[in-house]
Order: sequence, then structure tokens, then C-alpha cells
Amino acid sequence: MQPVQIAVIGTGSISSAHLDAYKDNPNANLYAVCDLNEERARKAAEKYGATKVYTDYRELLTDPVIEAVSICTWNNTHAEISIAALEAGKHVLVEKPLCRTVEEALHIQEAVEKSGKVLQVGFVRRYDTNAQLLRSMADRGEFGEIYYAKASSIRRLGNPGGWFSDIERSGGGPLIDIGVHMIDLCWYMMGRPKPVSVSANTYHKLGNRSNVRNLSFYQAADYDANHNTVEDMANALIRFENGASLLVDVSFTLHAKSDEGMVRLFGEKGGFEIDPEVVIVTEQNDTILNVSPQIDHKSFNFPSAFKNETSHFIDCVRNGKQPISPVEDGVEVMKMLVGIYESAKKGAEIRL
Ligand SMILES: NC(=O)c1ccc[n+]([C@@H]2O[C@H](COP(=O)([O-])OP(=O)(O)OC[C@H]3O[C@@H](n4cnc5c(N)ncnc54)[C@H](O)[C@@H]3O)[C@@H](O)[C@H]2O)c1
Repeated sequence: MQPVQIAVIGTGSISSAHLDAYKDNPNANLYAVCDLNEERARKAAEKYGATKVYTDYRELLTDPVIEAVSICTWNNTHAEISIAALEAGKHVLVEKPLCRTVEEALHIQEAVEKSGKVLQVGFVRRYDTNAQLLRSMADRGEFGEIYYAKASSIRRLGNPGGWFSDIERSGGGPLIDIGVHMIDLCWYMMGRPKPVSVSANTYHKLGNRSNVRNLSFYQAADYDANHNTVEDMANALIRFENGASLLVDVSFTLHAKSDEGMVRLFGEKGGFEIDPEVVIVTEQNDTILNVSPQIDHKSFNFPSAFKNETSHFIDCVRNGKQPISPVEDGVEVMKMLVGIYESAKKGAEIRL
């Protein structure tokens, strides 16, 4: 198979996960990179051996060599760049969240349908081998109907600043940034039931706490703590058409004792935990068993999940397959995220 000619748009923090994964994939060739910050783009091109460097993605999209793009830019540009890329006949792997609003999401979906090109949403948690293992067990009915999920991703100090904390460019705070992973992972594991209502709260109580010393945290490539217009934390209860429910809470900062990641799902025949480590809970011979699968990584493996995500993208591009995280799922997740912000604003449950 001829390597797929790839361009990576946005060469900030997360781009290295895409670039590392493409570099190790014999079916991909990193042909071009692009960033508003030319020096950053040049550095990435040098490190990963890209032939071309662009600072304007529109110009990049006119390059006929490029077949597919990874979009690793600020959330406010995802819709615009995805649509332009599809219209230019390129396949797209777009970082999460798909975009900022349901309207933008529907425009992207329309562009996918018109172009007939692949668009894969970077819901990287789906591509972890543990998530795939548990998904296949769920498909075989080993947990029965999954009717309840509970997820939490708490940072006690971790507002990344820069564009992440500027609502115009991010679309929101911890909910749209990390809550998107929690909600998507649980929803995927539950078999993607139709969401029908949301009751949620968001809080703007602590600010970004840039005063705190002696504790480091993830920061945007252009860190700036001066502007913060996003929530500190969010919690939500999502109800689905089949009666299932999902309870989630996430924070950029909270007076919590420590950071915490927890993902738990409960079915009629068994349950399981994904974060912090995979555990399966079941019943045999009138006895409850906590089963610990013997696997290489009990927790989420970041580099391997990005490798799986990008290889799947290459496979979809070359072999005309539908991604396991298609645009339709990006749209549904966007409805839940936007619904959470709407419910919090109204102080009441809303129907989706
Ligand atoms: N999958 C994950 O786990 C994960 C983790 C972190 C970030 N992300 C997502 O990746 C995206 C980027 O996040 P990041 O942490 O790398 O941010 P970042 O600020 O470190 O990097 C973003 C880069 O995009 C560039 N950029 C912005 N608009 C551009 C445009 N129009 N054209 C070209 N370049 C442009 C910026 O100059 C910057 O270098 C976000 O959507 C974020 O939600 C995903």
C-alpha cells in the first residue's frame, strides 16, 4: 500500500502525539506541517522530517500531494478547517471536541456527507486497547444491559491557560476539554444510547488559581493566565432513551485532596472500571468476583492509543472504511456538552 500523504495542522502540545504516531507508521508519510507560529511549525518539520511548512492552512489545502490532515488547533477553528479540508478533497482526523456548538457540528456533518471523505473524531479513549477489550466483551453480552455509568476527572490545579481558558476559542472549560473524553468513553461503552435530557451545574468560584506555587500542571503552548472566562468545574446527569443514565463531574480546579480519574460502568450481569485501572466485577456460584485481567497496561496508555487512532485513520482512508468514531458521534457528544452548559445556565433540566 502507498503511504498516505499527511499534513498536521497545529503543531502545539498535542500534535506530538499525532506526529510520533505517523512517524512510526509505515503506511503514512508526514509531508507537511502548518502553524500560525512559523517557528513552531519549522521545529516540528525539522524534528519529524516534513517536506513542507505552511503558516496558512488554506494554502496547505491547495497542495495536491496532501491526502489527509490531522487538525490539532484551537477548538474554535475545528469546524472551519475541517469543512475547508473536506471541500478540498482531503480526509480529516480532527482533535476532540469536534467543535464548539451543535450548529458547527451539523455543518461539519453536511460537509462529510457532500464530500464522501473520511472524517474521524479524535475520541482517543476509544482507541485504547483496554477500551476495545471491554467494548468487545460488552458486544458479547458479558455485562448485560449497561444502565448506569459514573465518571470523574478532577484536577485540583490544572487550568491550561491561553486559548483553553478563553471561551471564544475553546467553547468552554473542563467540560468541553476533559469532560468530552469522560462522556464519550462512557457513552461508547453503553452502546451509544440516544441522550434525551440533561441536568447540570457549572461553577466559576475559584478562577484559575495562577497564584498557587510549588505545583506544576499542563499548560497550553502559549500559556497566559491573564484571561480566564471558563468554568472551574461542571457536573451533570444525562438520561438516555433506553432508561440508562450517566453521572459525570470534571474540574480544572477544585479544593480536592488530589487529582482523580474514575470511570465505572454497571450492567445487569456485571460491571467494570476503566479508570484508574481496569477491573471487571461479576457474579459466579452465588459469589461476587472482582476480576483483574492480565494485560500489559491496566491504565490508559496514551502513546499506544494515539498509535491505534492514527493507524485506524490510515486504514479508513486507504480502504474506504467508516471510522469507529464517525462525525455522527461527534454531533451527538456535542449535543450532550452544549445541553450541559444550557442546563447549568437555566438552573433546570433540559430536553435534548
Ligand atoms: N486527545 C487528547 O487527549 C487531547 C489532549 C490535548 C489537546 N487536545 C486537543 O488538541 C487541540 C490542540 O490542543 P493543544 O493542547 O495542542 O493546544 P496548543 O495551544 O498547545 O497548540 C495549538 C496550536 O494550534 C495553532 N493554531 C491555532 N489556530 C491555528 C490555525 N488556524 N492554523 C494553524 N495553526 C493554528 C497554535 O498556534 C498552536 O501552536 C485542541 O482541540 C485540544 O482540545 C486533545
